[in-house]
Amino acid sequence: MRLSELLYSQGFGTRRICAGLIEKGHVALNGAVCTEPSTEVALDLAARPLAFSVQGLSWQYHERAYVMLNKPAGYECSHRPGAWPSVYTLLPMPLRQRPATGKVAGVQAVGRLDQDTTGLLLLSDDGAFIHRMNSPRHHVPKVYEVTTRHPLDERQIERLRAGVVLDDDPRPVAAGGAEAVEEHHLRLTLTEGKYHQVKRMVAAVGNRVEALHRSRVGGLALPADLAAGQWRWLSADDLALLRP
Ligand code: URA
Repeated sequence: MRLSELLYSQGFGTRRICAGLIEKGHVALNGAVCTEPSTEVALDLAARPLAFSVQGLSWQYHERAYVMLNKPAGYECSHRPGAWPSVYTLLPMPLRQRPATGKVAGVQAVGRLDQDTTGLLLLSDDGAFIHRMNSPRHHVPKVYEVTTRHPLDERQIERLRAGVVLDDDPRPVAAGGAEAVEEHHLRLTLTEGKYHQVKRMVAAVGNRVEALHRSRVGGLALPADLAAGQWRWLSADDLALLRP
């Protein structure tokens, strides 16, 4: 792949901007400045991950972007947010600018978390991956840690497991798992992602969500060392944990 095309594919701007960055000496490949946009770069990624830097920012080539973010409260999962800043502002510019791949317009959140929900949010530009993670048919479990306003009781837990009717569908929705960890701490597992689903299910059993945190998607738990607002690439091991 040509160096300018490589930079473009990784989100460093239009093809013209990428060529300009290279010509001006802002790009280094494996430590050596390269000023020729048409330089052919070998993508033998199995042998050695391709590392480069642009204006001092070190970056590693990824054919597709798969990242996790520890979403803080007060951010919307939208490219056009209303009242709150967008979660995309927490990502570095190259991830925000990655070009469209197929039908996917750059890096997208895999499902949405509410503005006040915290925790594990996946983002990708791989349409098949996004679909697999989101589709209720694939039953990818999402685990939520819910702080409830009222103490939990066995009847609420049983009703969540058996299924509750929400206002937009006569068919009951059941939690894949519901467990009272503490008097006000519910651990709820869902395999679908209806609008405000946790909040509405908890309300349907007569309680109320005070705080909501997603701790796990599939077999992937939010790492304890990923601070709120921080992101990281998903490793091959992380991706394997997300496969059914
Ligand atoms: N369910 C909710 O109610 N809110 C979320 O953010 C996620 C699941």
